[in-house]
Amino acid sequence: MKKIGIMTTGGDCSGLNTAIQRVMRGAHLRGWRVFGILDGTDGLCTTPPNVVELTDNLLPIENARLSGSFLHNGQPGALNFETAAAEGSLDDFNKKLYRSIRELKLDAVILIGGNGSLSLAWAHREIYRDVQLICIPKTIDMDIPLTDRTIGFDTAVEQLTQFCDQLMLTARSHHRWFVVQSMGRDCGQLALNAGVAAGATAILIPEIKFNVNALINHIMNAPTDYGIIVVSEGISLRGHSGRPADMISRQLTAAGITNRTAFPEHTQRAGDTTASDRLLATAMADAALNAIDNNETYVMTALQNGTVKTIGLADFVAAGESVVDPNISDLCTSNAYVAPDDPLLDIAHDMGIYIGEIK
Ligand code: F6P
Repeated sequence: MKKIGIMTTGGDCSGLNTAIQRVMRGAHLRGWRVFGILDGTDGLCTTPPNVVELTDNLLPIENARLSGSFLHNGQPGALNFETAAAEGSLDDFNKKLYRSIRELKLDAVILIGGNGSLSLAWAHREIYRDVQLICIPKTIDMDIPLTDRTIGFDTAVEQLTQFCDQLMLTARSHHRWFVVQSMGRDCGQLALNAGVAAGATAILIPEIKFNVNALINHIMNAPTDYGIIVVSEGISLRGHSGRPADMISRQLTAAGITNRTAFPEHTQRAGDTTASDRLLATAMADAALNAIDNNETYVMTALQNGTVKTIGLADFVAAGESVVDPNISDLCTSNAYVAPDDPLLDIAHDMGIYIGEIK
C-alpha cells in the first residue's frame, strides 16, 4: 500500500480543494493512504511533521467546489525558501524537509503550486530524491509554461468578469468609466480574458506597449459614454508611480473623462470553483495518480491540446522565460506571458477594444 503526501504552496485559488479531494478519492480506490501536509512546507518544518490523514469524512465531496485550500498555504512569517535563503539557512531548511518526508515514509509527494513553487521544487529537487514528486500547476496568473490552463484561472476570469459586469451597470447610470485593476503579476492573461468577456472598452496588459493619448482618444470616440477599462497590475507608466489603476485614472481625469477606480483584489482568487476548473482539477488529479502508478517522478501535469498528460519538470523550467526570483538570488522562475500571436489579442482588437499599440 502506497502512502501519498499532498500539499498546496504559494497563493491560493479556486480548484485546489477539487484537486485534493479527487487525489484522495482516486488514491483510496487504489488502496493507498493520503496525508495532507498542512500549510505547505511549514508542515514539514515542525517536529513531528504537521500532517492529517485525508478521509471521506474530512473532505466530503460537497466541499470540493469551495475556494481556498483545506490544507492551507502557509503561516504568515513562517520559514520558507525565501526567508531561509535570506537568513543563510537554506541548506538546513532543505535538509529538514527531506528528513520530514523520510519520517512520514511517503512514496510520493503531490505538490500543487504556481510557477515559483514548481521552479523551487526543481531547483531543490534533492529534497524529493527518495520519493516520486508529481506537481500540479495552479495559479490565477496563467504564467506557467507548457500547459494551456492552470487550475484556478477559469474561476478567476469568471470572478473578474462578474465584477466588471456589475460595475458596467452603475457606470451606465452615471455616464462614467471604471478603471478596474486585475491581478496577474507580470502576465496579462487574466486581464485580457476577463476584459474581453466583460466587453471592456480598453485592456492594458504588461506584454503590450500602450499610448495614453491613444487610450484617451479611443475612450472619447467610443460608442458609449461609460464602460470598463481593465488594467493589469503588471503595467507601468513611465514617469508615474502608484497603483496602475490610479495612474491611468489620473490621466483620464486630466483629459476630462469622468471615472472611478475599482480593485477586485483577492475576490479573483475566491468564488465557487467553476465547472471548467473542477474538470481540469479532476483530470490533473487523475494524471498525477497515473504518474505515480507509472513510477514517474519530477513531472508536472499539463493540459496540452485538450489532453492532460505529464511533462518533465526540467522541460517546464527550460521552456519558460527565466526570471530572476526577487527573493532568492540564485533562483530563476520559469514564467510565461501572453504570446504576441495569442488569438485573443486579434479578437479583442477586431472587436474595437483598445489593447495597446499592436497594429
Ligand atoms: O500569484 C497570484 C497572485 O494573486 C497575484 O496575481 C498577485 O499579485 C499576488 O498573488 C497577491 O499576493 P498576496 O496574496 O500575497 O497579496
